[in-house]
Amino acid sequence: MSVTSAQFSAQQDFWANGEHRPDKVGDFLNRKEVIRMLAADGLPGAKILDAGCGTGYVAEMLGRRGAHVWGIDECIPFIDAATNSTANDVVRFQSGRIEKLPYGSECFDHVIAVSVLQYMYKGCIGEFFRHVARVLRKNGTVIVSMTHPDLYRLCYRDHEGDTQDKPAWIHFSGRSGSDGVDMVDTYTQHYFNASGNGSVLQGVRAYSGKDIVDMAECAGLKMVSSRSIEYPKSLVEKYPQWGSVWGYPSYLILEFQK
Ligand SMILES: C[S@@+](CC[C@H](N)C(=O)[O-])C[C@H]1O[C@@H](n2cnc3c(N)ncnc32)[C@H](O)[C@@H]1O
Repeated sequence: MSVTSAQFSAQQDFWANGEHRPDKVGDFLNRKEVIRMLAADGLPGAKILDAGCGTGYVAEMLGRRGAHVWGIDECIPFIDAATNSTANDVVRFQSGRIEKLPYGSECFDHVIAVSVLQYMYKGCIGEFFRHVARVLRKNGTVIVSMTHPDLYRLCYRDHEGDTQDKPAWIHFSGRSGSDGVDMVDTYTQHYFNASGNGSVLQGVRAYSGKDIVDMAECAGLKMVSSRSIEYPKSLVEKYPQWGSVWGYPSYLILEFQK
């Protein structure tokens, strides 16, 4: 298991649960948008690979809507939790790395990677897209989402006294101008729940949309859409502890076709 997955496994409760927790709203907005995009194409009978499935929330929701879902993640405790929490026989999970997908050619209609790529090295993302281009059927689609690149800049705290108007429950610190491998800004991500307890993830990488598009196109995939998820005003009003984050971008979602 990589250092990143070891960090995730230490935070299982944080990532697995909490649909109604204010500190997790961004994650759920992102997950639900990916599900909505797939549903627009018709879910019953669709074969979907959830790459970096974590504890299986998205896979389970897709399975409940009639899709056949394969989930893969390198974090074994997450895969165990996902397997134990589904009673759905069209959803199955296995451990493994997504840059070495152990599936046959052209067997999926869709591949998704929800909030995963920002934890991977560039070389691994390139390998992932090459595998995606192999396992997708012709005209199949891949949807990837990641923390929005602007959110890192907006919520970077290390050298700023002024935190006014910035979200209180998430910030990034420890920016390195480049990690010496991928030449991409790398951060430590801090989340705080409503009781002020924190969760820290090191080695979060601020890829730009262009970085990801270039890698996907290099593997022969065509970009079809790009959208960002913003924190809606209604939620900001519901959670006054957020501060004035209405309009902040939270996730960037990119869709490609084979
Ligand atoms: C933020 S979690 C998101 C999980 C899930 N997609 C969700 O929305 O709940 C990121 C996941 O990516 C997994 N991951 C990161 N790099 C990976 C890799 N190279 N191969 C497989 N899994 C990976 C981690 O183990 C972790 O479970």
